[in-house]
Amino acid sequence: GKGMFTYDPGFVSTASCESQITYIDGGKGVLLHRGYPIEQLAEHSDYLETCYLLLYGELPNKEQKEAFVDTVTNHTMVHEQLVHFFNGFRRDSHPMAIMCGVVGALSAFYHDSLDISDEHSRQVAAFRLIAKMPTIAAMSYKFSIGQPFMYPDNNMSYAENFLHMMFGVPCEKSNISPVLANAMDKIFLLHADHEQNASTSTVRLAGSSGANPFACIAAGIAALWGPSHGGANEAVLNMLEEIGDESRIDEFVARAKDKSDPFRLMGFGHRVYKNFDPRAKVMKQAADEVLAELGLEDDPLLKIAKRLEQIALEDPYFVEKKLYPNVDFYSGIILKAIGIPTSMFTVIFAVGRTIGWIAHWHEMISGSYRIGRPRQLYTGHDKRDFVSLDDR
Ligand code: SDX
Repeated sequence: GKGMFTYDPGFVSTASCESQITYIDGGKGVLLHRGYPIEQLAEHSDYLETCYLLLYGELPNKEQKEAFVDTVTNHTMVHEQLVHFFNGFRRDSHPMAIMCGVVGALSAFYHDSLDISDEHSRQVAAFRLIAKMPTIAAMSYKFSIGQPFMYPDNNMSYAENFLHMMFGVPCEKSNISPVLANAMDKIFLLHADHEQNASTSTVRLAGSSGANPFACIAAGIAALWGPSHGGANEAVLNMLEEIGDESRIDEFVARAKDKSDPFRLMGFGHRVYKNFDPRAKVMKQAADEVLAELGLEDDPLLKIAKRLEQIALEDPYFVEKKLYPNVDFYSGIILKAIGIPTSMFTVIFAVGRTIGWIAHWHEMISGSYRIGRPRQLYTGHDKRDFVSLDDR
């Protein structure tokens, strides 16, 4: 009598929607965006082109690509009034805390992209979010170190511009290394979408009530923050630093296997992949390339990461549970080499994932949908009569 519902805690076997955007075969370790393998996109495409693909379903031709890049680039600045939001935060705020607030606040500024029933308005909201996320992300960093905010430079590519706003200063001409800009672009691309993960499902659920797109993406950012999800990239680097030396790896592996110890190997395991996360393979290769180009092949953290991966791939505990490295395992090593502080790692995941969130929101809103409303198995008290305060 407590309800006749399918009980599926953690949604292990429940499809919440139909979608044409991304396909994952977790057993085989396959990831396709609109049918295209992630390995091919990582090698031949770039982030904004992949954004177009995710949003519209096809790769753009030359004119379409140029027009899309132009349109997005036109929206890189944020309303000048938004600067005041930053001043309300402590300088030592976690940048993800700032992101949750400031991105949610975009709905207070862009009133002409709040009408979710209008396709043009939905498109402009998408352009604005893709374009402004790097600007807001870089502002959250500049605020933390007490440097002036950098305006975007629309002559630069998406990734270059982000690095310019992160590391440039008004008194000097920015000189962004193409190697680092390419690595940054690849990281955004590898995070672009991953079907119904916790944050994307959150965006869809928020959107199903008719909430505006900025509010929905802010909800996604909040869901991404946790260490089981996007927060893992920051946790991986902290873990590698805590391990500190190859001689201590066994100790941490033993702790990860110990059920009485809450410690888990960060960057390992995945709800869907029971094989290599294909993004982790690309990321590992990219880490090797970037560090070699920067002359950092001997980076001690990279060494610890590789040794740890090798041990985990051989250890029966990890083998039996099919725990492989995921997208977050190697990304931090690249980000660190680029000079990005650890506290910004999850923010960068959020910047890259924004297109996935918007593409899913847009797919839902432009199709037929109902408000998301899961049920529960009630396990509380049966009906009982109120007891007056004196009798308790
Ligand atoms: C992302 O969903 C997505 O698509 C997410 C993502 C995306 O692009 O959006 O791919 C991005 O979030 C990557 C995941 C980042 N998180 C981490 O790296 C944190 C460490 N990983 C784990 O916490 C865990 O593996 C999850 C959260 C990723 C998956 O959790 P599940 O599917 O609920 O699996 P589980 O926790 O039930 O694990 C199954 C078993 C358990 O042992 P038993 O109880 O069966 O004996 O494996 C064990 C777990 O204890 N286990 C681990 C482990 N991960 C799982 N043991 C040691 N170290 C680990 N990392």
